[in-house]
Amino acid sequence: MTLTARILSLVLVVQLVLAAAVGALLAGNARAAVAAEVDGSIQAARALVLASVATLIDAVPGPVLVPALAERLVQPRHARITLYDVQSGRTLVPPSRLARPGPAPAWFARLLAPTGHASELPIVENRNMRGLAVISADPGVEIAEIWRDARALALVMALAAAAQVGLTAVVLRAGLRPLGRLRAVLARLAQGDLTARADRVSVPDLAPLAADIDRLGGALAAAQADRARLSRQVVGRGDQERKAVARDLHDEYGPNLFALRVEAAAIRDAAPDPALRAHAETILAIADDIRRVNSALLSGLRPMAVGQLPLAAVLADMFDDLAARHDRIDWTLDLDPALPEPDEATALTIYRILQEGTTNVLRHATGARTVTASVGHGPAGWTVRLADDGPGTGGAAEGNGLSGMRERVALLGGTFAVQSGPGGATLTATLPADA
Ligand SMILES: Nc1ncnc2c1ncn2[C@@H]1O[C@H](COP(=O)(O)OP(=O)(O)OP(=O)(O)O)[C@@H](O)[C@H]1O
Ligand SMILES: [Mg+2]
Repeated sequence: MTLTARILSLVLVVQLVLAAAVGALLAGNARAAVAAEVDGSIQAARALVLASVATLIDAVPGPVLVPALAERLVQPRHARITLYDVQSGRTLVPPSRLARPGPAPAWFARLLAPTGHASELPIVENRNMRGLAVISADPGVEIAEIWRDARALALVMALAAAAQVGLTAVVLRAGLRPLGRLRAVLARLAQGDLTARADRVSVPDLAPLAADIDRLGGALAAAQADRARLSRQVVGRGDQERKAVARDLHDEYGPNLFALRVEAAAIRDAAPDPALRAHAETILAIADDIRRVNSALLSGLRPMAVGQLPLAAVLADMFDDLAARHDRIDWTLDLDPALPEPDEATALTIYRILQEGTTNVLRHATGARTVTASVGHGPAGWTVRLADDGPGTGGAAEGNGLSGMRERVALLGGTFAVQSGPGGATLTATLPADA
């Protein structure tokens, strides 16, 4: 049940209880009032009958005393006089001059009608029983008047209740309206739009809630900025460490290997013994192997050119090299002409995606004829795309290559997706604009 429905039901229940209490109280009072009125009327009617008999008794002959009485009497307000004439055996009812309002419903009349009020008076003249006057209660007029008042009161109360329910509904609706806006702000925050704010709310009761929502939005935005900063730091630290290891490998191993080769060559050239020369050749071959492994390690650890040359040049080199070594495939690299220079972490990530992606094409996309790569930059950040027309991944599980790209992109706060179908596989990555 909504809050509005609850409050309106409560108002209605209170109004109904109030109406019932007022009705019960008024009914009790009205009953007593009707009984008192009727009692008074019966007493007055008795006195009237007695006085009229006293007046008439000397004025008219005995046999017509009761008809004369019936003519002289007028029905009182809340009692009913009925005369029984012994002479004619008829029942005579004096006229009534009262205008009777429309009668009350039977249930209402039963509710208020007094009980047991009636009185009989024998009409005696000269010791002759001339008739009988029966005086009974007649609360009809009084009850009809009370019914009219009760109806008017009920109508007023019903109108007041309707007005109260209507006004309450209007006030509630106006008061709760900002909740819809607050919900929309929360939904936007939940969807990641951390700029959503509730701002000012005109209903004072909801203003603290709006302020709390805005504080929450601010805290979320701050936390997200912190996370992005930390992620970049993590990526940056990793890159720095790899850079340092690569530098050591290059600076320490390179000269030492070179010296080793020079010495081995000197031994080979100077040795008189062929067996010794053969050993020197072997040392030279091993030194060559170590150099190859070293340079493979170096380029795996960190492509030296990234960070030294413009990214566009490094990528163009990579694709030129691929085109030269694998000429059965048509390699296309689409670069935004106004491509700005990314920060080093972003540049390395773009490089790795294309390097690992093209390696995957060569290893897995059998029969691919064209490979298209593109790097774009907009206000929202960087977009990298690599598409081939091979057989697609066929839903193969991700290995180190794809999951490594995904992790790196996630650390920078970007998105990464692999789409695959019979027309080939496509990698799409977005990276936020540089921090
Ligand atoms: N361009 C592609 N065309 C078809 N299949 C692909 C392509 N790229 C990836 N795949 C499929 O996705 C799988 C996962 O690729 P991923 O690069 O993650 O691992 P890998 O290449 O198998 O191994 P590594 O960890 O050495 O990269 C591959 O084994 C391959 O089956
Ligand atoms: Mg791979």
